[in-house]
Amino acid sequence: MKKRVTKAIFPVAGLGTRFLPATKSVPKEIMTLVDRPLIQYAIDEARAAGIKEFIFVTSRGKGALEDYFDHAPQLEQELRKKGKDQLLQTLKDTNMDSGAIAYIRQHKAMGLGHAVWCARRLVGNEPFAVILPDDVIAAEKPCLQQMVEAHEETGGCMVAAMEVPHDKASAYGVLDIKEDMGNMVSVKGMVEKPPADQAPSNLAVIGRYILTPKIMQNLNQIKAGSGGEVQLTDAIAQEIEHEREVFGYRFRGQRFDCGSKAGFLQATVSFGLAREELRDEFGQYLDEMVSMRAAVE
Ligand code: UTP
Repeated sequence: MKKRVTKAIFPVAGLGTRFLPATKSVPKEIMTLVDRPLIQYAIDEARAAGIKEFIFVTSRGKGALEDYFDHAPQLEQELRKKGKDQLLQTLKDTNMDSGAIAYIRQHKAMGLGHAVWCARRLVGNEPFAVILPDDVIAAEKPCLQQMVEAHEETGGCMVAAMEVPHDKASAYGVLDIKEDMGNMVSVKGMVEKPPADQAPSNLAVIGRYILTPKIMQNLNQIKAGSGGEVQLTDAIAQEIEHEREVFGYRFRGQRFDCGSKAGFLQATVSFGLAREELRDEFGQYLDEMVSMRAAVE
């Protein structure tokens, strides 16, 4: 029987330079969409997919992230006293079970592959998920849950995949497709950030993965690849070279690149409009803004 995926790695040790100066003191993952930090969206998605152990790969300056997961008894007591039951529930929903979270430090930002490798001892000999919290995905069924269900059928390694315009492919890891089965493709190659004219397809990898422990062995051996960093893509591509299966999963949902300013703003608008209590006021404001812009042009 295939092992269930119950562990997830959250690599959050990046420098977040695109959000300087904010990220000088605020970890990127604590930045909020409406009223929830990015990391909360990632945790909720992992929980929905059946993840029980949450492994954070952190770095210097990420203390606020660790504090975020502490219980807040004083705050809870205050809300209880004031009868603010709904807020109390909101707060309780963020609580994590004791021992469910582990933190491991990446001492130097040597790339995503290196960050994942730092968690090797905590993962052990089991398949595991990797979630990049700055990729936020709005979906009826959470993306990782879709993938876990598909993975129960396929095994092997699986990456979340999304069609992008051809001229944008060079910003992503790109899949070389062996067979297209609709919502899933089998993969015969993977390249990280290929030059625009050399992308093997326009199917790009985004920040959700289900990986076998073999990936950790591959990472052990990998030297710095593209961009001088240890690339996770290279470790997955090695699986294909060893004739083990790698799948791309076309998830259903909308992905926002919250690691970029434009993506973050788009997500803010989208998640704001999705909130019932904000929809009317915020929607009206946006309509006014659009009309004003049109008038100026
Ligand atoms: P990014 O490529 O977005 O890099 O990393 P970054 O440092 O977070 O942000 P910029 O580009 O400087 O603005 C993608 C994911 O990989 C993690 C990041 O925390 C993010 O979740 N990462 C990246 C690490 O954990 N360690 C690394 O060495 C690099």
